[in-house]
Amino acid sequence: MAVIVAFYRPLPASRSKRMTQIFTHRDINKAAQQIKNGEVVAFPTETVYGLGANALDKDAVQKIFRAKGRPSDNPLILHIARKNDIFKWTCPNADLKKKVRLLIREFWPGPLTLILPKIGEIPQTVSAGLETVGVRMPANRLAQKLIKAAGVPLAAPSANLSGKPSSTRFEHVWDDFNGKIAGIVKSSPSKIGLESTVVDLTVSPPAILRPGSILPEDLQKFLPDLTLLNKVGEIAKSPGMKYKHYAPEALVYLFENENETKWNDILLNCKKEHKKARIFSPDHQKNFGKLMYELLRKADKDGVDVILIKPFNRSGIGQTLWNRLKKSAFEIIS
Ligand code: TXA
Ligand code: MG
Repeated sequence: MAVIVAFYRPLPASRSKRMTQIFTHRDINKAAQQIKNGEVVAFPTETVYGLGANALDKDAVQKIFRAKGRPSDNPLILHIARKNDIFKWTCPNADLKKKVRLLIREFWPGPLTLILPKIGEIPQTVSAGLETVGVRMPANRLAQKLIKAAGVPLAAPSANLSGKPSSTRFEHVWDDFNGKIAGIVKSSPSKIGLESTVVDLTVSPPAILRPGSILPEDLQKFLPDLTLLNKVGEIAKSPGMKYKHYAPEALVYLFENENETKWNDILLNCKKEHKKARIFSPDHQKNFGKLMYELLRKADKDGVDVILIKPFNRSGIGQTLWNRLKKSAFEIIS
């Protein structure tokens, strides 16, 4: 019997107590039953942990927004377990359909989210009132098993409190949601550690709304006219982009270039004010990407006040790291 039931800190009498169940790989059917019951269950994916609910049940989806403290105008991604299910929930025209087929053949299951015109059955709560919806088929086997066992697509944002760093380990999800959701599927740390690349296929030319580990150059082989984020600027086309994100409690100083004077000023100030400083150098970018959220969260656990991030190469996966760190930054120093 592998279901562990955990009780969390007592809540004030005015708030009801909840139990968050921990499910292992043996309990996927039990986790799926919670989804069928309209509850929220966190689950692992290869990118980051997700906070899932039945995407066709608007009350269940509402619970995700409440648990995360997420603004209601920020849409959720549909997670499916079979490639062709994308055509159940979206209605691309013939031309778009061809592109989708090529992309999912190459990149699914995996860290690519495709934005397409949605069909009516997807509640407005999921798409935040938009006529489009983002769909992705995660590569993680437990995620696939959960979706199949639930028998419905899962609406799932990253499993973190809104504005905070994403969760790449079970413990991160536990810290944020213990007592707030029905359960968590416990697994190993996320393989990639960075959220999926989001591509909007409803605009012409198609555009990357959020960079990820699948890079523009990988996608351009299939979408030659793809617009890169840095070319369209930072226009908040993806509703989620306009909010502060990924930010730890510690103040993050992100150095775009070497600036010895400013670097030393910050460190000197920390010393004067007895503040704890920590330095990140994202040299080995793939590895840094995998550990970035863990490092940000750990800094908070260790009572770090100030994080200084050394300049790094912003091409390739560096573009994705820069995109995330920029949003987590208190100040960007050029
Ligand atoms: O890797 C991932 O994508 C993870 C895992 C759990 O799958 N999920 C994730 O979800 O990062 P979330 O909600 O944290 O980020 C989804 C992003 C947001 O920036 C949201 O605004 C954007 O995708 N998005 C979702 N649906 C959209 C739509 N219809 N149009 C434009 N942007 C959309
Ligand atoms: Mg997120």
